[in-house]
Amino acid sequence: MRKHELVWNKDRHGVGIALIDDQHRQIIERVNQIAGAVATAVKKETLKEMLEDMLLFVCEHFAVEERLMAEHGYPDMESHIQEHLKMYQQLNNLVKTVLRTTGRDKAALVSAYLSDWAERHILLADKELGGFLAAQGLS
Ligand SMILES: [Fe+2]
Ligand SMILES: [Fe+2]
Repeated sequence: MRKHELVWNKDRHGVGIALIDDQHRQIIERVNQIAGAVATAVKKETLKEMLEDMLLFVCEHFAVEERLMAEHGYPDMESHIQEHLKMYQQLNNLVKTVLRTTGRDKAALVSAYLSDWAERHILLADKELGGFLAAQGLS
């Protein structure tokens, strides 16, 4: 395992809703692939595609969570959506920066973003949402 690689772990990252967990796992996988691509100095065009692909996937994931929040009247919907917006902007900036930066700095940027995502958003906001949805009978 590479130094900064993050592995999705059910006990740690699981929010208890299968669709959300599956998407989180895929996001973590994609970020690891990107970090790997950076480490092996993949072509810029390929890296750009991978980053844009992840951006799209993240967008879809946020839309899924936001739809579930709306459908089930989640009380913290507003602040959760604000976090998504902020993360999306950060990710967008990261993509631009990664494409501009050369060498190892890129890998550091990607893993810094991932740890922020996993440790802060999934473990706090998404777990809270998962608990709420589970109490509504979702799994
Ligand atoms: Fe979320
Ligand atoms: Fe999420």
